[in-house]
Amino acid sequence: MTEATWPQWLPIRPNLSALSPYGAPQVEAQASLNTNENPFPLSPELVAAISARVAEVAATLNRYPDRDATELRTRLASYINEESGTKIDSTNIWAANGSNEIIQSLFLAFGAGGAIGFLPSYSMHPLIARVTLTPWRDGRRREDFSLDVDGAISEIVQVKPDLTFITTPNNPTGEAISIQEIEKLAASTPGLLVIDEAYAEFSDEKSAVTLIAQYPHVVVIRTMSKAFSFAGARVGYLVAHPSVVDAMMLVRLPYHLSTLTQGAALVALDFKDQLLAGVTELRKQRGIVTDALNEMGLNVLPSQANFLLFSGFTSSSHQLWQAMLDRGILIRDVGLSGYLRTTIGTGAENEKFINALRECLAKEKS
Ligand SMILES: Cc1ncc(COP(=O)(O)O)c(C=O)c1O
Repeated sequence: MTEATWPQWLPIRPNLSALSPYGAPQVEAQASLNTNENPFPLSPELVAAISARVAEVAATLNRYPDRDATELRTRLASYINEESGTKIDSTNIWAANGSNEIIQSLFLAFGAGGAIGFLPSYSMHPLIARVTLTPWRDGRRREDFSLDVDGAISEIVQVKPDLTFITTPNNPTGEAISIQEIEKLAASTPGLLVIDEAYAEFSDEKSAVTLIAQYPHVVVIRTMSKAFSFAGARVGYLVAHPSVVDAMMLVRLPYHLSTLTQGAALVALDFKDQLLAGVTELRKQRGIVTDALNEMGLNVLPSQANFLLFSGFTSSSHQLWQAMLDRGILIRDVGLSGYLRTTIGTGAENEKFINALRECLAKEKS
């Protein structure tokens, strides 16, 4: 919908009138490799356990859910402690309907003084900023899209935003920065330093959750959508100083996280080891797909996530995206000219992707 197409009588907010809704195409494909989902369906045992939990709580759906999701937050804190050796508890965690809702709450609570992020990065950061009337500044990356930490610090110090967004591993590039670099940013960032770690489990780098005890203005965003194969359930969370969590309670909608969602997420955490085994397989597959793309003469950005950004083809991004879709493979045109992004799928899906891409590149040359 563009500005011109809104009816005159509709009192749409001026900050929204020129926006388009977020949306990767949801079309049928043999391999859907466009939204960085985890390709592995839940196991029959996990499906049965979730079904049993839903049956158990269904009779209580006349009541509102636990408004503070205390059990879920306690379990998420244990997960982070096991993973990163921290000593946090439920007061350091806030959970919501996907990390997108976490991002929205951060803008609502802390966005008055503006925000900065370094592009290209997750497109929802600037979009949610606009929706929440948060002044947004596009920070710059190097030509190769890597993050120039010193350059970023100069920009942050000059702009003095209340929120600085760093995505690591970064979407859509896959690059992860080191914990030393994050600490350097933390040491000189005013306001809150928000580290979006939606893909943390796929990365070799240490999580920024380990910095929160020393730097209380570091806020880490996590999600169950990727590593936990749980995108459809909508569970994201943040790890932060308790004061940040207290502010989240001011802007959350009452009873925002349903009893069903909380119950299903608790069961998924019981199956953590099984679910995270999928991450190991996807990291292996990432290596296989990277090698195949390199063999085709394409340039692949080094990735610590469950996707790859590649360039080096001669048709336009849109033409190649369409040619792949014509072969049943749905990947992502992220709006960077000369680049496309593919999510790492199952071995079979990746093989289909590689074969289709080989065909398309051969056709480009013919
Ligand atoms: C960097 C980043 N952050 C956050 C999200 C949102 O994830 P969800 O709302 O499913 O938790 C995504 C989704 O692709 C992402 O790439």
